[in-house]
Amino acid sequence: MTSITVGKSQMPAVGLGLWKIDRPDAAQAVVDAVEAGYRHLDSASDYGNEAEVGEGIAAAIAAGHCTREDLWVTSKLWNTYHRKEHVRPACEKTLEDLGLDYLDLYLIHFPIALKYVDFAERYPAEWVYDPSAENPSMEVDFVPLAETWAGMEELVDAGLVKEIGVCNYTSGLLLDLMAYSRIKPSMLQIESHPFLTQEKLIRLAGDLSVAVTAFSPLGALSYVQLDMATNSDTVLTAAPVIAAAERVGRTPAQVVLRWGVQRGTSIIPKTTNPERLRENLALFDFELTGDEMAAISALNQDRRFNDPGVFCEQAFGTFCPIYD
Ligand code: A2P
Repeated sequence: MTSITVGKSQMPAVGLGLWKIDRPDAAQAVVDAVEAGYRHLDSASDYGNEAEVGEGIAAAIAAGHCTREDLWVTSKLWNTYHRKEHVRPACEKTLEDLGLDYLDLYLIHFPIALKYVDFAERYPAEWVYDPSAENPSMEVDFVPLAETWAGMEELVDAGLVKEIGVCNYTSGLLLDLMAYSRIKPSMLQIESHPFLTQEKLIRLAGDLSVAVTAFSPLGALSYVQLDMATNSDTVLTAAPVIAAAERVGRTPAQVVLRWGVQRGTSIIPKTTNPERLRENLALFDFELTGDEMAAISALNQDRRFNDPGVFCEQAFGTFCPIYD
């Protein structure tokens, strides 16, 4: 499978996104994915399934499907651990849950710092500070991102992680990070699909030698079950997608995912369905034409489904915008 350069490393372009995979399904999903050929897993402590993902990794290795070194494992630092003294314990907790002694990539999950919640009190801590309060809400903590980044750099120094990066950053935050970082970020993970092409941000990342991973590469699909989108928001029925799918004899989902990798981003589609696992990986034996790429890019509506400025208020009673 095609790889992309991430810092000093090579990362398989297609990974399995582990967000929203229920705990009872997570270990088997990882085994099925590795059997299907996936070598890149996109995890996070906030997904609440890292121990089960770790069981899946151990089972896949024990079954001889892969070695640890064959795998690229990404995880993410949650918002409640942004203070420098919490960064390493948070990473070590993730490593323990995953059953690993290093991560290939560790990312700051959001440029949002929340008040610390001890592991023993609640893990993962999620968004709300005290769910048992009369009016549960988020408690923002004003921690400089430079402090969090210094903690991330120490993880590289300590050999716990090979590469470090960020998620959900905008151009201004990325430029600022370039200014204060001793170890440069090698990855920017952002929502991107044909309805949110993010061309300027992706171009800037390229200019700065920061690789890009697109989450929710299929667009609305992930958000329908969360009531954050409806089936009518799907990109899979858009005319240029259907036309390309008919020409290449592939599914609309494969065309949208191929558009993602052909523009140079890594993609991390989520599924637990073994057929779709294979479908989402079979992207490297066909190509979209320049015109098809342009027509799919022209579907852009700057339509963001994962926006803390919206969901934090709706779900957690706290207005917390990060995109203006
Ligand atoms: P399921 O998990 O039932 O397969 P994204 O990774 O862009 O967030 O998309 C994940 C969503 O898209 C999930 O709802 C997943 O459903 C669905 N999905 C994943 N792969 C495909 C595919 N090849 N065709 C249609 N739906 C898919």
